[in-house]
Amino acid sequence: MSPSPSRQELKERIRDATEMVEVVGQYVKLRRSGSNWQGLCPFHQEKTPSFNVNPQRQNYYCFGCHKGGDAFSFVMEMEGISFPESVVFLGKRAGIEVETGSDWGKGEKRKDAYYRINESSTEFYQRALMESPQAAGARDYLRSREISKTTIEEFGVGYAGQSWRQLHEHLGKQDFPVEKVLELGLVRRKSSGPGCYDSFRGRVLFPIRSVAGRVLGFGGRVLDDTLPKYINSPDSPVYTKKSILYGLDRAWREIRRAKLAVLVEGYFDVISLHQAGIPLAVAVCGTAFSENQARLLKRYSEKVCVVTDGDPAGLKAAVKAAGVLITAGIEPVIASMDPGEDPDSEIRKNGAESFRARIRKAPGFYEFMRELVRSRGDRPEEKERAVRSVLEVLSRFPEKDLRLETQLEKLSLVFGVDKDTLRRTLRQDRRNERRPRREKEEQPTDSLEVASGEEKQILRALLDEGRERETVLEILDRNDFLDPIYARIFSVLSELGRIPEAKELDQLFPDEASAHRVHELTFLPPPGDGLGLWAKAASLRIRLRVLMERNRDFQGRVQALEVSGESIPGELLEEWRHLGEKIRLLKSDLDETLKQKGSRD
Ligand code: UTP
Ligand code: MN
Repeated sequence: MSPSPSRQELKERIRDATEMVEVVGQYVKLRRSGSNWQGLCPFHQEKTPSFNVNPQRQNYYCFGCHKGGDAFSFVMEMEGISFPESVVFLGKRAGIEVETGSDWGKGEKRKDAYYRINESSTEFYQRALMESPQAAGARDYLRSREISKTTIEEFGVGYAGQSWRQLHEHLGKQDFPVEKVLELGLVRRKSSGPGCYDSFRGRVLFPIRSVAGRVLGFGGRVLDDTLPKYINSPDSPVYTKKSILYGLDRAWREIRRAKLAVLVEGYFDVISLHQAGIPLAVAVCGTAFSENQARLLKRYSEKVCVVTDGDPAGLKAAVKAAGVLITAGIEPVIASMDPGEDPDSEIRKNGAESFRARIRKAPGFYEFMRELVRSRGDRPEEKERAVRSVLEVLSRFPEKDLRLETQLEKLSLVFGVDKDTLRRTLRQDRRNERRPRREKEEQPTDSLEVASGEEKQILRALLDEGRERETVLEILDRNDFLDPIYARIFSVLSELGRIPEAKELDQLFPDEASAHRVHELTFLPPPGDGLGLWAKAASLRIRLRVLMERNRDFQGRVQALEVSGESIPGELLEEWRHLGEKIRLLKSDLDETLKQKGSRD
């Protein structure tokens, strides 16, 4: 570990290693709803759920009581603890040491024993690989696969010898409770008679770590062609395979920096790519790529390159993974390997430069599928089959989802199939499957509403890149917002000059009132059509409302003067006339915009 990190770094690290849905899930029963999770609000009494958690932005908001925030504010509120205490609390939960005398949560104390057992086993296996005479074969094997000593150390690769009781005895000497060792799958009970034996024997071991670096389990490979090739730790109180990615603990910073993750299939692929200077590689651990893993990746990058092994099984897995990514809102690109190669053998055969080029040139999912059809002779049946398999992926989107439109658009372009035909086929498929429709995201109307819905939508548009945001910033300024908190939110967001990262929000809005409102904004769907017309109309309307307010002001003043029989100053009338002119122009601009928008809709 590096010497003690700054408070801010520490907080960031803990935040990155914390899954909001899991934290909240310990207090609130959550159900999936669109891209959010919903449940009954823990902060106020309610019968229908208005409490939302967004796994991408890692925040929460209640449409009932308007509380919102991040993981830290959530546990502060739930546990009645201070901010520093919340850092300790979530730190322990994520397995990140925070130096202080504070108490831990009970659950974490319980998990800690599992982590210590795994850590001790990792050390034990690693030492065996490096030092034990019985590990000579394993060392030769890793050498033959061109894995360097540094890489072995970095990834904590180890070796489980042929003996049946080495680890069992090693852990026994440290008084670790055998029940917990069993739960971790490190040893098994003998089927006849008392006692246990080691699960991993004669295998090279890869410790699988959480983002925070805690060992959760192991994958172990034989040194020859014996089957099974790999055995993996089972799920346990600290390990959920479908939510973990091998290598992410070493890759996440780079992934975030490069805005790209490289998804491969095996442990060796990850290690080999890292060693070759591509530290963006992560892999599933013997399961299919899951929605949870897509969400996990999305916290670090919006783009993922799926690398397919050069065989039919690899292709199939890649197509499935691409589907999962698309539904999670990630745009996959697909890089394929030469026939018969996987990323590990490929990069050793052709070198890192050629591999990088493959990633750089990797086509999008649709282009990849189109190319595949072409390479198979471009037969119409093949093409239809490919389109259908893509539509199957897209049928996971709710029917009126804007993202679905974008995807259909792309598909239509790449395959040269009419968009309406695609839409009809999709609708037909849905009907045939009679799948339950996804419920629409519920957004209860808000009695405490100060600003109009439109003002909120405008501010929401500032949270995403695009035409909508540019248009809003062109037209409006902070004086156009009547509500002082929204005015402040607007000026902070416009002065920032770029879209804020989710984790910056609490720094940008340190006071509770605006923090709550900002978190609410992040739960509104991104407005607009990508053309900026909606944003233009809405901005003009908001400005118009302010000018009309000022107009009423003039009216009042002039009336008051008339009543009191005083003469009306010329400048006042001139100013009023000027305002009237502005309003007229604005109105015609708005009409024009609405007309354009109408013809688009
Ligand atoms: P591969 O068979 O492609 O192996 O399985 P690999 O990773 O390329 O390993 P080498 O190069 O042959 O040594 C890919 C992944 O599938 C899981 C493992 O996670 C493996 O890394 N797997 C494979 C298992 O869990 N069990 C198995 O028996 C085989
Ligand atoms: Mn391989």
